[in-house]
Amino acid sequence: MVQIITIDGPASSGKSSLAKKISLKYDSPILYSGRLYRAVALDIINQNINLNNKSAILKCIKRINKKKLDSKDLFSRKVDLISSVISSKKYIRESLCEFQKSFPKKYAKKNHYAIIEGRDIGTIIFPKAKYKIFMWADAEIRAKRRYEQIIKNGGKASIKTIYKEIVARDKKDMSRKIAPLKPAVNSVLLDTTYLDIEQAFNAIIKILTSK
Ligand code: DC
Repeated sequence: MVQIITIDGPASSGKSSLAKKISLKYDSPILYSGRLYRAVALDIINQNINLNNKSAILKCIKRINKKKLDSKDLFSRKVDLISSVISSKKYIRESLCEFQKSFPKKYAKKNHYAIIEGRDIGTIIFPKAKYKIFMWADAEIRAKRRYEQIIKNGGKASIKTIYKEIVARDKKDMSRKIAPLKPAVNSVLLDTTYLDIEQAFNAIIKILTSK
């Protein structure tokens, strides 16, 4: 039977990099659940939909497909902002629940593991998952990593602005009434403030091979 690995944590804590490394080692499919919120946000922006227009937003959710989840356009500051706003709406979270719950059955038929990363995966979506990881790192370190990533990709950024945005998103994610970001019961806390991705990965491999 497929074992579910949930990876939750705040923005830029290294969830995606860790998920990718586990996926490569064990040939396991990954669902980056934030992309579901981002895909809806992008559709809202492109179609100029009012954020109170529930029926139009529900149609955006129905239009989500694999191609949309792989779009490069999902990663812009505007999408960051709108996805963060819509992620606190109950009906949107509920509608996206099904997609996430059916992911392992649909995409991990012959794989040992299915990896799902996000904010509420170990708490709400897969509370019974065998492996739950909660990633953390100081906001200053996360801002520095994000800044370096943007510069490496040839972009321009201000570390102060990134830091402010990270702190604001943390606050929103952790204080919202529905599905706030918090460590799940039985989760392993992985603080990467002083760990690089390789060290974090080694720590997780030890856990996966010891249970
Ligand atoms: O992980 P990300 O930055 O791609 O997520 C985009 C937005 O979606 C972010 O504001 C947090 C939100 N999100 C959420 O509320 N629940 C999830 N399971 C995943 C992401």
